[in-house]
Amino acid sequence: MTDIPLIRLDDVSKVYHLESGDVTALDHVSLDIRENDFVAIMGPSGSGKSTLMNQLGILDVPTTGSLLIDNRDVAAMSTLERTHMRRDVIGYIFQKFFLIPLLSAYENVEYPLILKHKQRDTTGRAREILQAMGFDEKLAAHRPSQLSGGQQQRVAIARALVNDPKILLCDEPTGNLDRKTGLQIMDILVGLHGKGKTVILVTHDPKIAEYAKRTVVIEDGRVQEA
Ligand SMILES: Nc1ncnc2c1ncn2[C@@H]1O[C@H](COP(=O)(O)OP(=O)(O)OP(=O)(O)O)[C@@H](O)[C@H]1O
Ligand SMILES: [Mg+2]
Repeated sequence: MTDIPLIRLDDVSKVYHLESGDVTALDHVSLDIRENDFVAIMGPSGSGKSTLMNQLGILDVPTTGSLLIDNRDVAAMSTLERTHMRRDVIGYIFQKFFLIPLLSAYENVEYPLILKHKQRDTTGRAREILQAMGFDEKLAAHRPSQLSGGQQQRVAIARALVNDPKILLCDEPTGNLDRKTGLQIMDILVGLHGKGKTVILVTHDPKIAEYAKRTVVIEDGRVQEA
């Protein structure tokens, strides 16, 4: 065991400059997340949860402060190194699934493998992960529009897992699903945490947050441990 956290957010602020004035979406946020942690992030609408997730996922850059992943300062990395970190270290799961509509479920899951290896998957990995999410060959041939919300989210999870990331960032993954389907998705996330993944989960729902080991509350861009 080392003392170095997997993710360290150090005094990060994010300010949006709008014509109507500046919006401070994150206000001096410091947060350490250890390997295999399971963190729920809660807070009212507009409090900065997605802004925080975008920082953790290297989808955005802080206005001030720093982000370290695996003890590496993200700001000091090249664009290519950041792209590789997004592709290989982090899996993204969103409320709206963001599947590619013209691709089948299988092709959606295979896509990150193609980005990584520059060729179609010959290892069976994409198929195997989809099978683990309950997809047979026939269902795997469906396009997203031919799947239920819960099925689409399982495809999105399979896609997030296919390059075996250490970190899973989940922004309201059950937000578009009914309770029963949402709990099935939570069971999957709990299983992945059990297999060693570091899971960071945004939710409005205290019942969903109970699945996490730790809850962080964000209000007006400031975080505090619950
Ligand atoms: N691209 C942007 N440009 C300007 N302001 C933004 C932008 N994105 C977010 N904000 C502002 O930053 C603040 C935090 O937004 P954020 O999306 O992080 O909230 P949230 O906690 O995820 O809310 P919700 O629960 O509704 O998803 C809000 O005041 C929002 O209006
Ligand atoms: Mg949000």
